[in-house]
Amino acid sequence: MTKAFYVTTPIYYANSEPHVGTAYTSIVADVLARYHRLRGEEVFFLTGTDEHGQKIFRAAKEQGLTPKALADQLCPKFKELTPTLSLTNDHFIRTTDPAHEHAVKTLFSRLIASGDVYKGQYKGWYCTGCEGYVDAPADAKPTCELHGAVDWLEEENYFFRLSKYRDRILAHFKANPGFVEPTSRYNEVLNRIKGGLEDVSVSRSSFDWGVPLPGDEKHVIWVWFDALINYISGVGFPDDPERFARHWPADVHLVGKDIIWFHSVIWPCMLIAAGIEPPRKVYAHGWWTVNGDKISKTKGNVVYPRDVTAKYGVDPLRYFMLRELPFGLDGDFSLTAFTRRYNSDLGNDLGNLVNRVLALVEKHFGGVVPEQGAYEPVDAALRATFEAVVPRYEETLGRYEFSLTLEEIWKAVRHANAYVDQTKPWTLAKDPANRGRLGTVLGALCEGLRELSCLLAPFLPNVSEGIRRQIGAEGPVRLPGDLAWGGLAAGTRIAKGAPLFPRVDAP
Ligand code: MSP
Repeated sequence: MTKAFYVTTPIYYANSEPHVGTAYTSIVADVLARYHRLRGEEVFFLTGTDEHGQKIFRAAKEQGLTPKALADQLCPKFKELTPTLSLTNDHFIRTTDPAHEHAVKTLFSRLIASGDVYKGQYKGWYCTGCEGYVDAPADAKPTCELHGAVDWLEEENYFFRLSKYRDRILAHFKANPGFVEPTSRYNEVLNRIKGGLEDVSVSRSSFDWGVPLPGDEKHVIWVWFDALINYISGVGFPDDPERFARHWPADVHLVGKDIIWFHSVIWPCMLIAAGIEPPRKVYAHGWWTVNGDKISKTKGNVVYPRDVTAKYGVDPLRYFMLRELPFGLDGDFSLTAFTRRYNSDLGNDLGNLVNRVLALVEKHFGGVVPEQGAYEPVDAALRATFEAVVPRYEETLGRYEFSLTLEEIWKAVRHANAYVDQTKPWTLAKDPANRGRLGTVLGALCEGLRELSCLLAPFLPNVSEGIRRQIGAEGPVRLPGDLAWGGLAAGTRIAKGAPLFPRVDAP
């Protein structure tokens, strides 16, 4: 049995609509899912909504709704991200799905049975925004960096013996240096583990919106404990062991930097305690601001993905988010930066290339890809650039350096544009004696476009398809085979279409 490539996004709190910041992880997950599918691998890409807990409970109360009604209202907004961003998630999980709740109870019962969960009294601070316990003395009145004021909590709770797993998780980190990435995050988490692990409260008893705790239904299971389990309940745990074995462990959990501790310490320890392998990797990305500020409704700077895609198209948004900031670092979204990249990278570089090459093939070869003759150094140099991109494409993608991967692809785009200027097809066309040479030049350029359509396929799927349609490339892209130079046959009929990226005005 071969294991599927399994990639996840965090499940999003169903208390407010998705914005460009929350859309980011889903875009990245989609690139990985598409890339692995194009390589012929079985892939499972899971996303969904986190619907229990105090945060949803409180938000619903404020709006005079039941928590379930609020979640039912907001969950579709997250599901809509699939068409809005051209996502190819294989499933969308909700933590209110009965199958998920059953998985949570099953895992929890295992931990009770193994003595890893015990009853106690929690006294301490809690940030409802993070749904997390805040480690600070009673008189400290701490605040949360992200959400401000925190609450004082005194409740009877059940605790998970996280402290018992300190050595196990340390050993796991040591044995798997790529377990958490980027490396700076790995070191941060590792140092915190070395500082000691305290048992963590995993139930709440002061409100009732969650999965009831097996055997003590006055409690609901802590929302993080519940939510993390989506990664296994979404692939068949506990009732479909065959499906579960085909997917688990997840190849990568993509998460924002704010939730790295839950994913790289609490979650693997829960799994180890339950006798399940930890995920293979947790990759933490940075945060987006908008116009230099934290994304916030009160600041009025929230950018909704559908507003951007309705106006500029899906792929430009994907391109901008993947290209603008090196994966792992923080970055800023502004329409000024977005339209700049749209007009320069997409319009001037890529769109213009496609347009001029196809116009020339139409004009001089009646819309049929011409035969190529022997290569001159200038042609060989173009081919060499495309060939050099391939290994760097694979390497950077393998390291999740998406911005660099796109930069590599654009080296080929820019070289192809420079090649048009160097070879001057319009001058060649003036003399019938140069017909063979003109064929070589335009044939090489069509081949370049074909290869670009393959390189771009995981990132800009719609643009990739558009280019393929226009150049008459047939069938689905297959990686890495289709990245070899020479896949487009002479005689292929092209079908020039409308410009891919009509110029837009800067705001
Ligand atoms: N429900 C939890 C996750 C549970 S996973 C088992 C949660 N939800 S969230 O909706 O608050 O955040 C979801 C993801 O969106 C997190 O990875 C978070 O880092 C990310 N982002 C939220 N705002 C963001 C930005 N402004 N920029 C980038 N990512 C952002 O946490």
